Amino acid sequence: MIAVGCDHGGFALKQEILAHLKERGLEYNDLGCYEEKSCDYPTYAKAVAAEINEGRAEKGILICGTGIGISIAANKIPGIRAALCTDCFCAEATRQHNDANVLALGGRVVGAGLALKIVDTFLDTPFSNDERHIRRIKGIE
Ligand code: RB5
Repeated sequence: MIAVGCDHGGFALKQEILAHLKERGLEYNDLGCYEEKSCDYPTYAKAVAAEINEGRAEKGILICGTGIGISIAANKIPGIRAALCTDCFCAEATRQHNDANVLALGGRVVGAGLALKIVDTFLDTPFSNDERHIRRIKGIE
């Protein structure tokens, strides 16, 4: 299960991402927002984090205008490793090295074509399980 959330700045891109997940046959839970009316990104960062921390989702995708605010909010929550990605290299590396469990995107930064490739890279790349990466992740906690 993939938990997905956004604020108004990420709403349009979220619609593209949900359609893409559906096309891929991946299960998701859309936690809002559900319209482009102005709203507060921490609300959705917390909702997605709870899905992961309470075992209802394995990964999350969060989108705001830049991806910055919503990733800052998510990373304040223990257990969440949110990676703001603007390219596939970072999406791949953050799965392999950081075992990131949340992908953050900026709806006003990346176009839908690139965003969907970033999403696929993030979802399809496993954690390396290398001892040094495990040690560093433990160091964060
Ligand atoms: C909303 O205007 C915008 O500030 C928000 O989506 C995000 O970019 C914050 O980091």
